[in-house]
Amino acid sequence: MKEFSSTVTKSILTGIQPSGVITLGNYIGAIKQMVRMQEEFKSTIFIADMHAITVPQDPNVLHENIRSLVALYIACGIDPEKNIIFIQSENEYHANISWLLECNTPFGELSRMTQFKDKSSKNVNFYAGLFTYPVLMAADILAYDVDYVPVGIDQKQHVELARNIAERFNKKFGETFKIPDVYITKEGTKIMDLVTPDKKMSKSSDNPKGVIRILDDIEDIRKKIMGATTDSECVVCFDPENKPGISNLINICVAITGQSIDQIEEMFQGKNYGEFKKYVADVVVEEISGIQKRYREIINSSELDSILDENIKIVRDIARNKFMMMKEKMGLYK
Ligand code: TYM
Repeated sequence: MKEFSSTVTKSILTGIQPSGVITLGNYIGAIKQMVRMQEEFKSTIFIADMHAITVPQDPNVLHENIRSLVALYIACGIDPEKNIIFIQSENEYHANISWLLECNTPFGELSRMTQFKDKSSKNVNFYAGLFTYPVLMAADILAYDVDYVPVGIDQKQHVELARNIAERFNKKFGETFKIPDVYITKEGTKIMDLVTPDKKMSKSSDNPKGVIRILDDIEDIRKKIMGATTDSECVVCFDPENKPGISNLINICVAITGQSIDQIEEMFQGKNYGEFKKYVADVVVEEISGIQKRYREIINSSELDSILDENIKIVRDIARNKFMMMKEKMGLYK
């Protein structure tokens, strides 16, 4: 059983889809926050594989990506001693809870989810799971009565939906769920695409030059940063509206080095964009090289399997209790 220090009282939970190798955006928006918070919170982090299948996946590739993501979590600094790490589909109670919640979620509320509107507009042949996905995400969160959900800003609306679903359920059937808060760090809010910096850096982007993946070749990462879109002004200053490319690179630096925006602006006063980009490339490459080294050490180790086997028992018990409680409150047969 995982032992948390007695001073640790509040809890956090987050998940990432194993749809391709995670990006620098996922790392900064979600994983780095979890690493920072794992000292102070009871932490749970999972692989959202059932979310990944809301769009078609190659089964063999998906299977590999799931294991790879577990190894990446650990390589990125998620400490298996301080976190419960598990694979969503190994805990069937998420889907069970999700169904009960779906039957209490208005269609209109789901229709307003901006991520659904975006994704469904790109491909009209989408599946029902893409539409109901935010309810599964609510189930992931509400099953564990967590205090905070650290995510990037693109997932904020989904966490707010989870809050609404929980509040409505509590009101209708009596106190059942803790109401979670979304947790977003300022610098991790949204890492943008390097080529089109008005778009978020995304695993599903069509142009690989705009996206840094954590397992990319180190020299390619350097090239992508050196080739990032900037502007013609040649002043390193933070202005997301008018200088989205430079502001994105500043954001990346702030998130990785812990420096402030002012410190970075001051460091590069009077210097050209080439010098600034070289600095960004150096800090990113240093961080990612360390992650890749640890990743290679653990990807084939049996330690991964033991961690998953131990943790799944813990989360299944918790989620099962929540499911049984919901069934009873809703009048289903127990
Ligand atoms: P996913 O897999 O799209 O992204 C995982 C996490 O990375 C953050 N993120 C970013 N942050 C900053 N800049 C970016 N460019 C960027 N791109 C992605 C996301 O905000 C997210 O925090 N539905 C979720 C996974 C999920 C989940 C959950 C999260 C399923 N159940 C329960 C929290 C709690 C998703 O698709 O994330």
